[in-house]
Amino acid sequence: MNHTEGMLKPGSYSGKTILITGGGTGLGRSVGKYLLELGANLVISSRKKDVIDRTAAELMQETGGKVLAVACDIRKYDEVEKVIKAAEEKFGKIDAVLNNAAGNFISPTERLSHRAFDIVVDIVLRGTYYVTLAAGKNWIAKKQSGSFLNIVTTYAWTGSGYVVPSACGKAGVLALTRSLAVEWAKYKIRSNAIAPGPFPTEGAWSRLMPGELVKKFDPAARIPVGRVGEHQELANLAAYLMSDYSAYINGEVVTIDGGEWLRHGGEFSYLEELKPEMWDALEKTRK
Ligand code: HXC
Ligand code: NAP
Repeated sequence: MNHTEGMLKPGSYSGKTILITGGGTGLGRSVGKYLLELGANLVISSRKKDVIDRTAAELMQETGGKVLAVACDIRKYDEVEKVIKAAEEKFGKIDAVLNNAAGNFISPTERLSHRAFDIVVDIVLRGTYYVTLAAGKNWIAKKQSGSFLNIVTTYAWTGSGYVVPSACGKAGVLALTRSLAVEWAKYKIRSNAIAPGPFPTEGAWSRLMPGELVKKFDPAARIPVGRVGEHQELANLAAYLMSDYSAYINGEVVTIDGGEWLRHGGEFSYLEELKPEMWDALEKTRK
């Protein structure tokens, strides 16, 4: 057993249809691939039709599963409704939604135009509540059960400078997750979230660690377990949280960051830098 292997039983997702926003690239693509391997039908959507079409073709070839790609800007409610309609026409129903699409970049906040702030909050928060509202209303009207899984970040609760619009948006998504976990449980709709630490993707790395930054601030060096995340370990967690295996988990946010955020929140974590000889010397001064 190791963390780069799939975890769920083969066929766990047979007959299930999962919608992944931003499913053409990065983590969304990796989770989608694993769900297909487990037998799911997949619906992926994002703004770039060419990207999702290519991903759909590749994933069908690699897994033998069925993938529907529907272009959609999640900031436009009518487009979101069209995705749900297209998914139902193709596969009958949707069983779970992975709210994964996001926008982000680093900048000192005072350098942002109001449009730049809007663009990130609109993708992250408005886009997520549009998808959630459209899918939730549809499940409730049809008396279907369902599961939402929202990808947030650990700075949804700590906050973070230099990515302030993203922090505001993700904090809203976390509030949405916890609120609906309670309100919609009576409709058999669960809501959970995952807060990943750094997982290498072209989308995140190019925008959050551009140019020399990746060499200057090696993310692995900040993480207690000494490495960044592997996509399969996030796919395992996502597949579990959207499945009936986690039927009693509702309103939870699961952090998968190798201990990163706790380390940086820990008052004495800086003592990491002390060498063993310094600890020896300190021990001798103890009364
Ligand atoms: C400052 C910027 C900027 C930057 C864009 N803007 N990039 N401002 N620094 N790096 C400003 C523009 O000048 C413009 O404002 C406004 O934002 C809109 O820019 P557009 O380029 O027109 O927007 P658009 O083409 O719609 O692209 C949206 C985007 C882009 C968010 C800017 O990066 C994108 O498409 N991202 C999607 C994928 C993504 O971001 N993935 C990473 C997720 S990683 P003005 O005023 O000039 O009009 C993630 C990880 C978190 O969330 C945690 C990691 C540990
Ligand atoms: P990514 O590949 O850039 O994924 C983001 C996706 O969102 C893209 O496929 C993009 O496709 C889509 N998207 C953006 N705006 C959209 C819109 N308006 N409508 C529909 N789709 C839109 O980056 P990633 O690293 O895999 O990120 C996936 C998720 O993980 C995000 O929620 C991110 O915040 C979260 N996350 C990532 C990390 C990490 O280290 N990678 C850490 C913490 C959290 P289009 O451009 O085609 O629209």
